Amino acid sequence: MKQFFIVPSILSANFSNLGHDIKSVIKYGADLIHFDIMDNHYVNNLTFGPVVLQSLKKNGVEFNADIHLMTHKVDNLIPIFAKQKVSFITFHPESTFHIDSTISLIKSFGCKAGIAINPATSLSCLEYTIDKLDLILIMSVNPGFGKQKFLTYILKKIEKVRKLIDSYNNNIVLQVDGGIKKDNILNLLNAGANSFVIGSEIFCSKNCKSTILKIKNIINKFLK
Ligand code: DX5
Ligand code: ZN
Repeated sequence: MKQFFIVPSILSANFSNLGHDIKSVIKYGADLIHFDIMDNHYVNNLTFGPVVLQSLKKNGVEFNADIHLMTHKVDNLIPIFAKQKVSFITFHPESTFHIDSTISLIKSFGCKAGIAINPATSLSCLEYTIDKLDLILIMSVNPGFGKQKFLTYILKKIEKVRKLIDSYNNNIVLQVDGGIKKDNILNLLNAGANSFVIGSEIFCSKNCKSTILKIKNIINKFLK
């Protein structure tokens, strides 16, 4: 049975009170917390590293972490994040010379492995990896920044990936990331996505709680 995940991206959270923001969204029903790791090489932005997760955990902030590596290299970072007992580690295929061995490296630590595919990148890398993956992340914005506009042409791509996953009849998570709002999430559900990375719609809203509850209602109504 397909599960559905609401995954707040902390890129738009209040970093002066990050533990509080994370505890709040979890209390309101978030399933995982999405960490956008950017190195100012793979994308033109610089965010944070594993020290943020270490500090959160050390100070008693409990969460399931969904790590999105937007970095020029990934193999050296994977063990560091894996040691934080994160749930998912997702990487862009351009960040490794050997996609298959990077997937195996993530799984060797007991973490779930995901591949992130940029808007104009083809799905070809899935052909020989889909039977090893736990998650496929379809980027609905060009990576690097929050608060961008959802690229509507991605809906067709999501439908294609849903068909591909269903033909393998396994429960790979189909995640979408970028520009997701209350007023477009139903299109994503109809296209076959079941995991939603949502940053500014949640953390920049006047009321995080009501935003998450509204999103949950849209998903529950879709499932009826
Ligand atoms: C962009 C990041 C996204 C982004 C989502 O590179 O991967 O996770 O933070 O933020 P919103 O929901 O504001 O587009
Ligand atoms: Zn992301």
